[in-house]
Amino acid sequence: MTDFQLPKFPEPSWRDTVKLPSFPSIKENVEADVGIVGGGITGITAAYLLSKQNKKVVLLDAGELLNGTTGHTTAKITAQHGLIYDEFISHFGIEKASLYYEAATEAKKFIEETVSELGIECDFNQEDAYIYTNSDSYILQLQKEKKAYDEIGIKSELVDEIPLNIPVKSALIMKNQAQFHPLKFLKALVEACVKNGVQFFENTTAVDIEYNKEPAILTREGKRITCNHIIVASHFPFYDKQSFYFSRMYPERSYVVAVTSDEKYPGGMYINAESPTRSIRSTKDDGKELWLIGGENHKTGQGKSTMDHYEALQKFAEDHFHVQQMEYRWSAQDLTTLDKMPYIGPITENEEAVLVATGFRKWGMTNGTIAAKVLTDRILNEENKYQELYSPSRFQADPAVKKFMEINADVAKHLIKGKLEYTGSNIDNLKADDATVIRVKGKRTGVYKDSEEKLHMVDTTCTHLGCEVKWNSGDRTWDCPCHGSRFSYTGDVIEGPAKKPLPKREIN
Ligand code: FES
Repeated sequence: MTDFQLPKFPEPSWRDTVKLPSFPSIKENVEADVGIVGGGITGITAAYLLSKQNKKVVLLDAGELLNGTTGHTTAKITAQHGLIYDEFISHFGIEKASLYYEAATEAKKFIEETVSELGIECDFNQEDAYIYTNSDSYILQLQKEKKAYDEIGIKSELVDEIPLNIPVKSALIMKNQAQFHPLKFLKALVEACVKNGVQFFENTTAVDIEYNKEPAILTREGKRITCNHIIVASHFPFYDKQSFYFSRMYPERSYVVAVTSDEKYPGGMYINAESPTRSIRSTKDDGKELWLIGGENHKTGQGKSTMDHYEALQKFAEDHFHVQQMEYRWSAQDLTTLDKMPYIGPITENEEAVLVATGFRKWGMTNGTIAAKVLTDRILNEENKYQELYSPSRFQADPAVKKFMEINADVAKHLIKGKLEYTGSNIDNLKADDATVIRVKGKRTGVYKDSEEKLHMVDTTCTHLGCEVKWNSGDRTWDCPCHGSRFSYTGDVIEGPAKKPLPKREIN
């Protein structure tokens, strides 16, 4: 039993500490040089870069700007993306592993230069990044990672203690990385974009792309944005053109609690090597020091109740950091590709004008920034040495094929399991702010009883490919265990690949 109450509703500290501008939804057809779908770090950075080169840019978001994964990040700006360089050297070779490091470092440099050029107050500061372990079986892996750092030429140090008060057997430090308040930074970019003539539309859902002589984005509202290039930066690509991105990536959820402590934060950004993941950094919130404790990753729609994950982080924080108050809690969804390298480039080999950026694992600040640079260079006909590295059409026999089979076997298992699961529950004993699955006229029906005791009933069959969604108690959403689509308790799509809402149901 823990001593502090978790906040009732999820809300990232980032969104609570900055006032973002709002924009209208689209009212008429528009023409532009570039249409961008998705108002996260990739879309906004691309809009900024293109508008500086006098391109006419339109950016759409299905909800509000910066309310997706970018608004729910831990915002570490680092090239230390977990244990990855030893693995990348063995799968891709030293040249590509080095390029990946260079790209992340270039992204950090771009953010730092932009902060200084625009005079952005976004709590940007340099910090060392640490991967630590308290498990004997990971000590060798840290040593191998250190060797990979040395081969690539990354400045690093292997140590056996860290400044935090947690048990550690070994840690690998990557020097001079950084952190910031992502929304303060991106708000300034949005304001610069507006000055440069970028048109933003919120609550405007892109549903398809028509690819004739010029591509056009079609919206749910029946409007059309005709342009020369389209950037699909909607996290999961809303448009797929039979490239089956859903079978080439898997979604994971992870959690953050933000706490105050009577200890002073000692500096540094931390992540452990083993499971369950623990990620730690600090930030300022109205002069208060917040400790951000993240981790507890799991495949979306699978595993234990999502509130249990928050409670595990809460317990970890209380066990180690003299917690005074639980201030915030929030969660995020990340997509990982078959070979862990993001997909950045033309969405298919035949549609060169439609560009995609997705699959950043948990490292969207650097991967999202470099994605914006790679895609805008392509649009501006500039050379970019990372294009081939990230090409979505690449084929890697190892480990991609093995991972492909693993992901899709898991999907097949959940497709069948969900249908067969017994739903013996009824709604008589359902408490307020809780949900269950019942049968209505033989059909599986998800029922959420809100705090005013009103019932919200939806068909639980995911509108993507028909798996059965599961209740997510932490976020009050229905999540699909197959490809990570997420729906509100009223059935609206929060996250694709599904495009259509869950049909509403009535008892009678
Ligand atoms: Fe693919 Fe639900 S997301 S079946």
